[in-house]
Amino acid sequence: MIANARQRIRVELGDARSYDVVIGPGAIDELTAIEARTVVVLYDVAVEALAQQVLTAFGSRVLLVRGLVGGEDVKSWELAGEIYDWLADVHVDRDTVLIAIGGGTVTDLGGFIAATYLRGLRWCAVPTTLLAAVDAAVGGKTAINLSAGKNLVGVFHHPSLVAIEPAAFTTLDPRDVAAGMGEALKTALVADPELFAFLEREMPRALAADPDVLATTVAHCVAAKARVVAGDERETDDSGAGGRAILNFGHTVGHALEKTCGYGVLRHGEAIVLGMRAALALSRERGLAPAQADRIMALVNAIPAPRPDAAPDAIIKATASDKKRKAGKVRFILIHDVADPYIVDDVTEASVRAALTAIA
Ligand code: GLY
Repeated sequence: MIANARQRIRVELGDARSYDVVIGPGAIDELTAIEARTVVVLYDVAVEALAQQVLTAFGSRVLLVRGLVGGEDVKSWELAGEIYDWLADVHVDRDTVLIAIGGGTVTDLGGFIAATYLRGLRWCAVPTTLLAAVDAAVGGKTAINLSAGKNLVGVFHHPSLVAIEPAAFTTLDPRDVAAGMGEALKTALVADPELFAFLEREMPRALAADPDVLATTVAHCVAAKARVVAGDERETDDSGAGGRAILNFGHTVGHALEKTCGYGVLRHGEAIVLGMRAALALSRERGLAPAQADRIMALVNAIPAPRPDAAPDAIIKATASDKKRKAGKVRFILIHDVADPYIVDDVTEASVRAALTAIA
């Protein structure tokens, strides 16, 4: 995809909640087409200029604006409570649309507030990090964190529109580009062989934030996620091949690493890169062909991620509190091959310990 072309991808939910994800320059212009008597805007102060464009477009219909410093800390009960009070102060009603502009933490929080205030406001997401654009802001998962773990309180509440301006990625810190590419590669590995082939060719340009390569990557990820979400919106498919749960490839160990290292130390996408190394080692143990495992691992390893400061015992203990466990068993998403994922819940502690050597 050329970065200056606009693309529209439908997330089909089978009813009036279906919505578009618009990718390309001027995508935010489509926000004003959403029927809204008034709007409330929550934005990350890192993208002040983009937020200003949205505010200008809505003019006197803006009821409330709050700049936030994005990061896991914003997904807290305390801030959510403060925002509910602000919404009450300005008399937000059901004709108000909430617009969340920023990375995944801001869109997760904004979506959660929208889902819960007045039992549900409409909302729009403007993801401005690569990770939010390829994954977090698409698909309707919203949440806040508890000290016991990330995203433990949340609801499914889809936005009415997702507007992605690829220009926002040009100012990202290289670590954030790498983190976003981690989630993008995850999508390729479970759901999009064409994207995998593209990334095998283009990973260096992606990591250098080449606008065309990132625009193509985002479009592939959004389309793949839309397909997966359309098939299993609420992640209830328990068949071995998995429904939406396949999007958690690399996340069992990834979430455990984030918790063990301390939230915010690793970027989420970095933790997923490390978690994918462990998931690939486990996949290989269960039959992923060694040559293919090496080929995939080479692409995972091309994405820089810090060496985590976490002991195997602590990581293993943290996997046990993963919210994706079922009937007390820890679940892993593994792959037979690219785009051929499956779910297991019988991985032994010894196998996890061995797989963690892939991270060290
Ligand atoms: N981030 C995985 C999902 O949305 O299901």
